[in-house]
Amino acid sequence: MNLAGFERFCAGIAQQLGGAEPSARELQGLGEELRRLGAEVDAAAISDLIAAPGQERLHPLVVSASGGPSLYLVSDGAGTASAPHEHQTWVAIVGLRGLELNTLFSCADAATRAVVREREVTVGPGDLLVLDAARIHSTRVDGAASTVHLHLYGRALAALPPFTERCFKVVADHRSP
Ligand SMILES: [Fe+2]
Repeated sequence: MNLAGFERFCAGIAQQLGGAEPSARELQGLGEELRRLGAEVDAAAISDLIAAPGQERLHPLVVSASGGPSLYLVSDGAGTASAPHEHQTWVAIVGLRGLELNTLFSCADAATRAVVREREVTVGPGDLLVLDAARIHSTRVDGAASTVHLHLYGRALAALPPFTERCFKVVADHRSP
């Protein structure tokens, strides 16, 4: 894996943004760049990093010492899922292996942290999903194959509030009759 290339990429983003949130166009652009870098990752480089069924693995690739833009390789095994959550920073996700079903939510009640489903997006190999800082999503591995993704966050995960504090509760399902 071209770690030096990822390091240059993250350093360039930190310099470009200077701590500010990217515009929608900037976020899409840096996501597209991550997709190009992801296409260069060969299967052999990630073979030892793949989660077993039921397992979730997080591999830091480039973590900013100052809490800035950071890149992780995430692998989730079949049967794993995450609760609806926000990141409180922007995110770009690029699929390398397997299928991850993302459900996107909107906030129905900030006080009770209630959310409603908006739509679903499947992220497979070569697919890009960008989320702005306010976006709420949940994920689920679709099928038997473990997933592998590149996750680029605007801030290092250690600089974010704990996952449980970033979670929401689903109160309605617009797809239900
Ligand atoms: Fe997430």
